Amino acid sequence: MEPVKVGLLGLGTVGGGTVKVLARSGAEIARRAGRGIKIVQASARDLKKARNCDTGGIALTTDPFAVVNNPEIQIVAELIGGDGLARELVMQAISNGKHVVTANKALIAKYGNEIFAAAQKQGVMVAFEAAVAGGIPIIKAIREGLAGNQIQWLAGIINGTGNFILTEMRDKGRDFADVLKEAQALGYAEADPTFDVEGIDAAHKLTILASIAFGIPLQFSKVYTEGITRITREDVNYATELGYRIKHLGIARRTTQGIELRVHPTLIPHRRLIANVDGVMNAVLVKGDAVGPTLFYGAGAGAEPTASAVVADLVDVTRALTTDPENRVPHLAFQPDALTDAPILGMDEVETAYYLRMQAMDQPGVLADVTRVLADLQISIEAIIQKEPSDENGGKASIIMLTHRVRERAMKQAISRIQALDAITSDVVRIRLENLGNKN
Ligand code: NDP
Ligand code: HSE
Repeated sequence: MEPVKVGLLGLGTVGGGTVKVLARSGAEIARRAGRGIKIVQASARDLKKARNCDTGGIALTTDPFAVVNNPEIQIVAELIGGDGLARELVMQAISNGKHVVTANKALIAKYGNEIFAAAQKQGVMVAFEAAVAGGIPIIKAIREGLAGNQIQWLAGIINGTGNFILTEMRDKGRDFADVLKEAQALGYAEADPTFDVEGIDAAHKLTILASIAFGIPLQFSKVYTEGITRITREDVNYATELGYRIKHLGIARRTTQGIELRVHPTLIPHRRLIANVDGVMNAVLVKGDAVGPTLFYGAGAGAEPTASAVVADLVDVTRALTTDPENRVPHLAFQPDALTDAPILGMDEVETAYYLRMQAMDQPGVLADVTRVLADLQISIEAIIQKEPSDENGGKASIIMLTHRVRERAMKQAISRIQALDAITSDVVRIRLENLGNKN
């Protein structure tokens, strides 16, 4: 049988990795897909640029529309990124009756509802395994492998760049900006790296995960998002002293009131496997009602790990080319007319435990004042450390506390009352804490 003809948009980190993997393992991939998969045309901005792959045998163009309008091409792989040009190209490819594979989480998180509706109308597939957690087949795992479960919650380290930065800072004491530069050189970071460090990329991915886990439409604008830029070495060290690690997590949880969608730095007990996921590695913990907790681990970014997911999608699409569109796995795991509009909870309604750190005058009664504020708001304390005043702290004492679970609204009130105490001389640093155990 004739190989399936693929057009590639983008020959950067992921595009180049895809060419390389297909070239190296083409024969084995054809044995899986039932026919060969051949990249016949590829686009890039600068055709003179050195590539991480051999582009021999591929027709190159600077015009990406030449690829999506090429009648010979059956599958378009969109590996450019962004949600401007990429959106136009994907919509054009769909309207030309082509199947699409993409690694573009920003595009899917923001415009996936419209893209999948157009694809359904045209009877074409849009596959996006590489959009979440790089090489980990987490989309397929949740959509297909866990289809018998009501997913209760999921929590993931879903940005490789951020995890790489946190790990290097913690283990080697390296400077944030310096590690970010390295992540960019290694091809891990987004074109705009603030997407990585401010949590936007993780929010894109969480949007997608929550949708396929709970059967809700993609709702990127409702994700609460905090990045890693305000994490200090001091907090990393105190967390360690208390038996925790600080990780940047995306968390989606189904509650009786609605769905939590949040991305933020989180203390996790160091004994949890996910707390020990370091460097560019990602991991997603998914709790299903039948299976219990499951953990998926692997490289979250980089040329070949991401290409692994792109190529797996190419194989999937190739296998399903001759199937009736009505009988394919739905894009968002649930039948399109069976998505529900469960409310997304505002952060004030979310319940978590907290790590708090503040500086205080070295005088009697301060700790009692702070604990009284917490008690008045029914917030119970799990642990307290008080550090002696030091020159580093300008002669002030540091108070570090862990609380039990409490609504964010109550914690915000407590923080503003604590900051108003005369003896408290700094803002209160608060980092959320999750046990990620079998119960919560
Ligand atoms: P790169 O920047 O390395 O590659 C982008 C490619 O698109 C380049 O070949 C570039 O051409 C081309 N391109 C960019 N802008 C235009 C344009 N305006 N017109 C035509 N071509 C254009 O990005 P990545 O490979 O890192 O990322 C691609 C996608 O994959 C993104 O959506 C990203 O979020 C996603 N992704 C990336 C991962 C990673 O580890 N890097 C992991 C998972 C997903 P030229 O080379 O000539 O500049
Ligand atoms: N910039 C992303 C990351 C690429 O670091 O995780 C993978 O999606």
